[in-house]
Amino acid sequence: MTETAPIPTKTQRASTLVLDGVEVPFQDGESLYQVAQRHRSEVPTLCYDPRLDAFGACRLCVVEVEGFRTPVASCTTRAAAGMKVRTRTDALEQHRKTLLELVASESRDSGDAHGKGTPGHVDPLRGYASQELATLTARYAVDGTRFAGAHSGRSHREDDNPFLLRDYDLCISCYRCVRVCAEREGDHAISVANRGFHTQITTEFGGKLLDSSCTFCGQCVQTCPTGALADRKAMRNAGQPGELTKTRTVCPYCGVGCSVDIVTRGERIVAVQPAMDGPANEGALCVKGQFAWDHVQHPERLKTPLVRDAAGRLVPASWDEALGRAAAGFAKALREHGDESIYAIASGRAPHESAYTIQKLIRAAAGTNFVDNCSRA
Ligand code: SF4
Ligand code: SF4
Ligand code: FES
Repeated sequence: MTETAPIPTKTQRASTLVLDGVEVPFQDGESLYQVAQRHRSEVPTLCYDPRLDAFGACRLCVVEVEGFRTPVASCTTRAAAGMKVRTRTDALEQHRKTLLELVASESRDSGDAHGKGTPGHVDPLRGYASQELATLTARYAVDGTRFAGAHSGRSHREDDNPFLLRDYDLCISCYRCVRVCAEREGDHAISVANRGFHTQITTEFGGKLLDSSCTFCGQCVQTCPTGALADRKAMRNAGQPGELTKTRTVCPYCGVGCSVDIVTRGERIVAVQPAMDGPANEGALCVKGQFAWDHVQHPERLKTPLVRDAAGRLVPASWDEALGRAAAGFAKALREHGDESIYAIASGRAPHESAYTIQKLIRAAAGTNFVDNCSRA
């Protein structure tokens, strides 16, 4: 997962270090990884998510610092004035490749048992970051067979929740899921049990997510770099032909304005993913924004107004007829009960223009200020 670290402002104390032979500025508190990334050094990462505290688990981000005996993890090493840092050397690339071979050997698809499979290659519908391991194994031409053997993580695919697939055979113990749940969602629904090959991402007492404190926000799914945690709804459409297209928009559910990418194949929505650079949500969503999109293309979706006939049954009507009926109802209420008989609440799911129009209608046509918007609640 990548981000461009901000350039130091004039009010922040800027010092310099030497990065791959070039003197570059950094701001107090920045890590070597953030400095390197801002200067487009392609340092690989797996346990890093820019929204989370650096963790230092995978060690793929190692760099050489003059005077240091061994390479250091750049995500957990603070930049200091005068440092001389190298991010690209043959020794570092070999070091990273070996680490990646160890990581890849943890994947179910490491190719170890029968010589099949390529580690990390999973359907992109599993989640936003699900291609990260595959991208790195391709970049370093790693197949996972060199350290083939035992795997950690037992899958919990039978967990009958409707949203999250828990396919821990693909887990590489980066702990991004656990950290995002704690640091971003504040939920602590999942944790790590045991060590070594017995390491397991789990809920309290190893139970189902439905029985845990999980809010089904989906953030663990979207940060998982291997697809071990996957969007179960999106996976109904996995492996089908046709290109996936992402369209940036704003979630319509409430007034927060979370940015989302609608993932479509042809004319159909197949998934929703949070926008990591969304200013209001920075990759977070709630269960509705993340998973409640079936109604958009549901065959029984209401597409025409309904009005009641003489017998009280709801029957399809034209928009003119439906709006005429509504206007007549408002006029009757005003005539018989006065302007305090009407109170309008605009939906938080409606755009600004609609919210403006409803207050104009109520104030100008009905002559009352009884109007509100549910986003204020
Ligand atoms: S869906 Fe959200 S609350 Fe549930 S485990 Fe994942 S991050 Fe935690
Ligand atoms: S489930 Fe995914 S995010 Fe969680 S530790 Fe395993 S690989 Fe990392
Ligand atoms: S990204 Fe730095 S240790 Fe994993």
